[in-house]
Amino acid sequence: MKPTSIDNIDTVCLDEENTAVVIIDQTLLPNEIRLLSLTRAEDMREAIYLLKVRGAPAIGVTAALGMYVLSARSNETEPDAFAEEFQKHKEYLNAARPTAVNLSWALGRMDSVFRRAMQNMQTPSADTSESSHADTHNANAADWKSAVLEALKQEALAIYHEDIEVCRRIGEHGLTLIHDGDGILTHCNAGKLATVRYGTATAPMYLAKERGLTISVYCDETRPLLQGARLTAFELQEAGIDTTLLCDNMSASLMRRGKVQAIFVGCDRVAANGDTANKIGTSVVAAVARKYGVPFYVCAPTSTIDRNTPDGDAIVIEQRKPEEVTEMWYEKRMAPQHVKIYNPAFDVTDSEDITAIVTEYGIAYPPYIDSLKVMFAKKEGAS
Ligand code: MRU
Repeated sequence: MKPTSIDNIDTVCLDEENTAVVIIDQTLLPNEIRLLSLTRAEDMREAIYLLKVRGAPAIGVTAALGMYVLSARSNETEPDAFAEEFQKHKEYLNAARPTAVNLSWALGRMDSVFRRAMQNMQTPSADTSESSHADTHNANAADWKSAVLEALKQEALAIYHEDIEVCRRIGEHGLTLIHDGDGILTHCNAGKLATVRYGTATAPMYLAKERGLTISVYCDETRPLLQGARLTAFELQEAGIDTTLLCDNMSASLMRRGKVQAIFVGCDRVAANGDTANKIGTSVVAAVARKYGVPFYVCAPTSTIDRNTPDGDAIVIEQRKPEEVTEMWYEKRMAPQHVKIYNPAFDVTDSEDITAIVTEYGIAYPPYIDSLKVMFAKKEGAS
């Protein structure tokens, strides 16, 4: 039966019975809620590239579950061929989109677990007697693949469950920045549909609603792919939150009129100095917010903070097809033929324009080079 609401559906999950990754096809929202079952690497990569599943955390979880599914469906019976195929799939999925670090982060975690599991199955037992060697070898020959698959499944499910938990904790920290009666602006979709549940930037909003606070949320439409209109406005309205949609170029007027008390956005990659890549147009919102003294908060799971990237200049920005600007959503082309098109998917907000970065380990304030280190120290202390 077709679902009629996304309320109780995870954006991405594992269908263990059919060994598939199940996603909500976000390209059809808000007009149709359809679930897609992904079993082939080509379909997984296409789903990520075409934004059937999108949002940094959600693509990370999809890739992790995807690596388990692809391995579980593999016909390879020899360890070397199995390992070679694993690497091939990992690189193939990793190339789907370059900016969100969660993709390579999740694939990296799956890779570490894979290597460890393969290593374990090759390590001889401590018992050196000849008969024990033979027994171990036979047992390994029969069991190595299921042991590796079990390790991959557990890691993929851990990434999925952590996403839910991390968003909830970001929500709790973010909620401390919201006051009853606030107008809150958000850009793109860093909502439930960008994660497994709750979202990052929307998690404080959902909790505010749960705890009886009155808030009004303004959603930027988010050209060219309309994640704000199609996804954020849809999911917030479904959740019963007072929601207003506006075109991207209207947020300055809203801020000037004093209608916005805080801005919450998500992110695709936060550099070590706090510079943040997020959906194209975010940096404009941040610059205008600074002009009008509106606090600008970035909600960032530590999985989206990339300490190997020193600053925003080092973040690779995905460029997308010109048709997204000239044709998509229109009945006919709405730009002259052959005009040059600039269509980056993300921009970088300078850390100076960010009031605070809300992580699952607490709220980081400038200078981020130090405060983000504190967040990671808390993370390491907790594990
Ligand atoms: O191109 P998209 O739709 O994947 O871009 C998504 C965003 O920019 C989100 O704000 C970001 O991934 C954070 S999601 C919690």
